[in-house]
Amino acid sequence: MSVKERIERLKKDKGATILAHNYCSEEVQDVADFVGDSLALAIKAKEIEEPMIVFCGVTFMAESAKILNPGKKVVMPEPDAVCPMANMCTSSQLDEVREKDPDAVIIGYVNTSADAKSRMDICCTSANSVKVVMSAEEGNVLFVPDRNLGSNVSESCGRAMDLWEGFCPTHQAFTRQMVEDMKARYPEATVMAHPECRPEVARMADMVGSTSQMLQFAKDSDAQEFIVLTEMGLGHRLRRDSPAKVFHFPHVAICPPMKMTDLRSVLRALEEEGPEVVIDADVMDAARRPLERMVAIR
Ligand code: 13P
Ligand code: SF4
Repeated sequence: MSVKERIERLKKDKGATILAHNYCSEEVQDVADFVGDSLALAIKAKEIEEPMIVFCGVTFMAESAKILNPGKKVVMPEPDAVCPMANMCTSSQLDEVREKDPDAVIIGYVNTSADAKSRMDICCTSANSVKVVMSAEEGNVLFVPDRNLGSNVSESCGRAMDLWEGFCPTHQAFTRQMVEDMKARYPEATVMAHPECRPEVARMADMVGSTSQMLQFAKDSDAQEFIVLTEMGLGHRLRRDSPAKVFHFPHVAICPPMKMTDLRSVLRALEEEGPEVVIDADVMDAARRPLERMVAIR
């Protein structure tokens, strides 16, 4: 039996659902029951009725699945797959903020640890960040940790916010020069950018959105050729959904932690039912409220 067949068999035997992010490798996306962006994955995780979730992606995503559906066993094939941005804002730093300004509204990108989320008022993903910021009560808003996303959202909805200094190393690597060169090479291409790109790069795009929003845009668009300013794992679904269209990614568009999970580690996770995502009960309870508020805003 092939590794893929063994995964399919164990999935049925153990009542497991495999969730994978749009950036995962093609082989992992192909064995997943559901592939999506961060918001869609959080919503899906909350709805799962089977006893086990195998989460392929990075740790903050698997933690969110556990917090939103705490009765399930959530396992991660690669528990060291950590999004570097998620380490750029800690719970103790947010405690200091609260001490200085107890009324501050803290909006946190979902790319954060469960511990940091436990100090936030509301979370958002790139798919609903504008709506979340628009929904925030009056007062001083602090947006953490992604400075680029915060700045792009602030520009779209005209709301001033204090911004943290975090960033995604993968999207930060895309420069204006790089995009200008790509545009010169592919002059007919429509440009799609993830809002984790620098503001000066996002402004060069015809469309800015989450990974799933880009998939939808490419499907609906009359354009035949696209420059895609995000991680190249998205190319698998873009090509599958729009086989007649052409997609170009910057050569540096790779997120190493997203590429850690492979078929062998998925199989091992199913066999061993681990490593399991375990979060302190108090942290889970405190982090659930901002996450529940996030999935309610679509
Ligand atoms: P999406 O929510 O758009 O899938 O993005 C997640 C992410 O980590 C982007 O780098
Ligand atoms: Fe984190 Fe960037 Fe990778 Fe997304 S692409 S998981 S933000 S490092």
